[in-house]
Amino acid sequence: MVLPAVLPVQRVVQPYPTLPPSPPVPPIGFAPGAQAWLAKLGGLRNVVRQELVSRQLDEQLGARFGADARLRVLDVGCGQATQALRLARRGHQVTGLDPDPAMLAAARQDLALESAEVQARVQLLPGSGEDCGRWFGPAAFDLVLCHGVLMYLPEPGPLLAALARILAPGGLLSVLSRNGDGLAMRPGLAGDWAGAVAAFDGDDYTNRLGLPTRADRRETLARTLAELDVPVLAWFGVRVFTDLAADDAPLPAETELAALLEAEHRAGRTDPYRQLAALIHLVGARP
Ligand SMILES: C[S@@+](CC[C@H](N)C(=O)[O-])C[C@H]1O[C@@H](n2cnc3c(N)ncnc32)[C@H](O)[C@@H]1O
Repeated sequence: MVLPAVLPVQRVVQPYPTLPPSPPVPPIGFAPGAQAWLAKLGGLRNVVRQELVSRQLDEQLGARFGADARLRVLDVGCGQATQALRLARRGHQVTGLDPDPAMLAAARQDLALESAEVQARVQLLPGSGEDCGRWFGPAAFDLVLCHGVLMYLPEPGPLLAALARILAPGGLLSVLSRNGDGLAMRPGLAGDWAGAVAAFDGDDYTNRLGLPTRADRRETLARTLAELDVPVLAWFGVRVFTDLAADDAPLPAETELAALLEAEHRAGRTDPYRQLAALIHLVGARP
């Protein structure tokens, strides 16, 4: 039998009209994920995150204030206080602020293990960052950290405005958020094609704690900071190569971990890699 060169076109009838995309789920806050977050703290992903942020921050602090400066630091959403305690060990006067009792309890537990001098330099307070103007006056801090908080809020503006107000002239504001410009990477590399496609069109996603969360795009965040008179001085990516590691991935041996961190460190400051990192770290400076 000879087949016709051109097969007759078959009309495909859609049995149902196309459904509209489901509306984005707004962030519900961090509290339902607190225990899961605490359980993951020693794992590879969190170690990479904290180590990268530490290196990037120390570089900016050294350049801005010099190695011997003793700063007034506010860590908003300090959580378990990894950065707050690290900075207090370096001699800075640190206030940690967090609304979640479970997180503050974890921070207090770790603080109790520090030397008496370090303990004397740290205060941990319950409260939300948006309300910080109720407890602290304008220009009260030289360094304000806001790490891993914005993704749990419906929008970044109100919190950043409150933080900008308490930042002293010459001070630094360090903001770590989920990178909206690289949002398709995590689902895409995991083979979640529907998730990857959805990530191109919106900033809402479900995070590894299973919580509905929100990512920030760098240009938008930078514009907001500029409007608040805290223009971005430097920006970095955090977790380019290890974002897909399993939640319980253990730390590799010391030399391998050092090499891994060096690779992440280089990627986090080099285009185009840093543009696709899981997290973006913006350091803004008040003139
Ligand atoms: C993912 S943890 C990050 C902890 C720590 N900053 C870090 O990077 O390791 C997010 C923290 O933000 C806190 N948080 C959530 N909403 C907040 C708000 N409106 N103001 C201050 N902290 C908030 C949570 O209670 C939680 O401790």
